[in-house]
Amino acid sequence: MSDLQGVRGTRDFYPDEMRLRSWLFSHFRAAAQLHGFEEYDAPVLEHEALYTRKAGEDIVGQLYGFEDKGGRRVALRPEMTPSLARMVLARAGALPLPIKWFSIPQCWRYERMQRGRGREHYQWNVDIWGSAGVEADVELLAVLCSFFDRVGLAPAEVGIRVSSRKVLQEVLDSVGVAGEQFAAVCIVVDKLGKLLPDEAAAQLGKLGLDNTAIATIQRVLGLHDLDTLAAALGDDSGAVAELRSLWALAEGYGLTEWLEFDGSIVRGLAYYTGPVFEAHDRSGELRAVCGGGRYDRLLSSFGGKDLPATGFGFGDMVILELLKDRGRLPQLAGSVQDVVFALNPELRPAAMDVAGRLRAQGRSVDLVLEEKRLKWALKHADRCGAERLLLLAPKEWERGLVKVRNLASGAESEVVPDAL
Ligand code: HAM
Repeated sequence: MSDLQGVRGTRDFYPDEMRLRSWLFSHFRAAAQLHGFEEYDAPVLEHEALYTRKAGEDIVGQLYGFEDKGGRRVALRPEMTPSLARMVLARAGALPLPIKWFSIPQCWRYERMQRGRGREHYQWNVDIWGSAGVEADVELLAVLCSFFDRVGLAPAEVGIRVSSRKVLQEVLDSVGVAGEQFAAVCIVVDKLGKLLPDEAAAQLGKLGLDNTAIATIQRVLGLHDLDTLAAALGDDSGAVAELRSLWALAEGYGLTEWLEFDGSIVRGLAYYTGPVFEAHDRSGELRAVCGGGRYDRLLSSFGGKDLPATGFGFGDMVILELLKDRGRLPQLAGSVQDVVFALNPELRPAAMDVAGRLRAQGRSVDLVLEEKRLKWALKHADRCGAERLLLLAPKEWERGLVKVRNLASGAESEVVPDAL
């Protein structure tokens, strides 16, 4: 019987849940489209090699990888970015730049189960390729904030913590850590908050960092404002200049209320190269709502010519938890507008005629297919959240009329089918 339960960490979407998911996706789509992004998609199954990176990321260890019947190593995608990179690379030079695309793929990761994290999730991805300036990063933040706005979340409830990989890069340069270790150091640093100090020191030690370097990293990553960062990194810091210009542009969009500089944001994926960000509920109860950043060198890791790129991924699970906690989940009715009901089987062809006419006008119609009592039909129409019950009754139909009951007011009228 256990086979009849869904696989652990996966979800069924019954209509109630599906309505909510569609509502969420409609806001994902609308926020992206308002900013000029176009939708794309890719297969959930990819070559495993697309994901086997060596920097020690959790996502690689969590891969649903297997051999297909042809002996090829394949994997269920854990994230969309490599598929997007593959698509861009396949048309390198032929796609007009910049590319501004979004997608809502299902992603698979064999994760430890916890609130807001499952083994599959849908992840809204919004990315810009071919735009090297910080303007593109700010455009993504604008998409994000417009989504939060749409679902009724205010800057007092969610904040976007922003930093840049260049901060850590400059710190590592200053303590003489070799460049090739950079991605691996980022992965460990991303976990600093979750690791015991000794464990963190041991892992960073393995990557060639000494105690002074580790202490410097910890100090800079603990900073929360750009002025102290500037004091720590020096006046000529590229990271500080980049972040200051990001803030100036965000000011133009009126977004700064949402943003906070947080030196500890480095992100746990190897490929980021510039500004990085994560959105969190301000109460700090949930895991990251979304995360993203600039990844200008991903294509060369696939053997292609690099193209600047920046984007974010935004899961469907944490945001729904957050909206639920805040009492912001909408009450969503079904889409049925009219219920058509024949009082006896002889009137069924007439009921089908009426239902057909209404549907031709674009109304969503549920035709009662079984022999039922009027009481049942009324209750059913109410359960569907319909606006009207259209009744085919012998006496009225003899006169060519349909009985129409407005379900909100209870008012009844008799109408010729042409006037429905
Ligand atoms: P990520 O931080 O691994 O980034 O995931 C982004 C978001 O996906 C998370 O903040 C969370 O909302 C959601 N998410 C991730 N794993 C799970 C899970 N197991 N269960 C539920 N939700 C989850 C990326 O994946 C990057 N590829 C994002 C990106 C796009 N960067 C640039 N473009």
